[in-house]
Amino acid sequence: MTEFTPRIFSGIKPSGGVTLGNYLGAIKRWVDMQGPDFQTIYCAVDLHAITVWQDPAALRNGTREIAAALIASGIDPERSILFNQSQVSAHAELAWIFNCVARVGWMNRMTQFKEKAGKNAEAVSLGLYAYPALMAADILAYHATHVPVGEDQKQHVELTRDIAAKFNNDYKVDFFPLTEPVIEGPATRVMNLRDGTKKMSKSGESDMERINMTDDADTIAKKFRKARTDPAPLPDTLDELKDRPEARNLVDIYAGLSDSTPQAVLSDYAGAGWGKFKPALADLAVAKLSPISTEMSRLMSDPSEIDRVLARGAERAKALAEPILARTYGIVGLVG
Ligand code: TYM
Repeated sequence: MTEFTPRIFSGIKPSGGVTLGNYLGAIKRWVDMQGPDFQTIYCAVDLHAITVWQDPAALRNGTREIAAALIASGIDPERSILFNQSQVSAHAELAWIFNCVARVGWMNRMTQFKEKAGKNAEAVSLGLYAYPALMAADILAYHATHVPVGEDQKQHVELTRDIAAKFNNDYKVDFFPLTEPVIEGPATRVMNLRDGTKKMSKSGESDMERINMTDDADTIAKKFRKARTDPAPLPDTLDELKDRPEARNLVDIYAGLSDSTPQAVLSDYAGAGWGKFKPALADLAVAKLSPISTEMSRLMSDPSEIDRVLARGAERAKALAEPILARTYGIVGLVG
């Protein structure tokens, strides 16, 4: 197998704001991965967003807000390549090739599609169904070797490996890397604050179930105060949290925000009741998130500067993706 240069790609949908789940499961880790070991490429995936209806003005605003959130969280547009997907047409072009490599049976197994489509599978867009092939194209257009994501994206990254392997095998080449999902840290699956068995998501029906990166200090404190828990105090060991999903979630969030581990959090708070732990968690969250949301608002006051950053990132992204796309076309036998 060819040695590929270590390269990180990851993306986030610009639909409906940024949650604490996005921050702890993805963005914070993307920030930490910037450095000499990897080239880092981060993308606001606007073409993915439109697989479900998006109001055009809200989409434009959402894309800039994602860029602002990433920069405010510590993504440096000089050290990393930061752009929005639709400005680099190689993504959509490679996705078409992968639509012809991926099998319908593979798509039928995607749990996220099944969850999103629900009983409505006949009426959702064809794009929602083909979404994982576009995601594979996002990653493989850069020959990315590592993809930091939350737990919910694992299956899609595994499908990306299947697509790469089938392409390499069909065309008898060693061209696309078998990308590794990187799912690490204490908060790879941040749960809903009102129901610890469901993922925290931007589309959940009540705003009380999630923390948004734009929430002010009072709102954050109120949401943690009202978060569902059980009556028992915090135990000594993680094992004792096995059947207490809401308690486990708050401990994981604390660990994620404090760069600690869930076990270390329990060591500090064993025996404490929620009257003590929830205010401490709220204070920690406000201390970490408020500077980010303040910086986000400052950046959002100058959208043209954000657009310049994204355009510059797109040029750098194109310089990497276009030669890979051209070689792919050559392998496939497309004349040009
Ligand atoms: P999206 O926009 O739903 O989420 C962006 C990132 O945030 C993570 N995440 C979470 N992590 C922990 N707990 C949660 N509750 C939580 N909610 C979201 C997601 O796992 C993800 O890492 N299909 C992707 C976007 C995408 C992409 C890609 C990712 C498109 N192309 C290529 C990686 C590589 C998505 O919808 O993420």
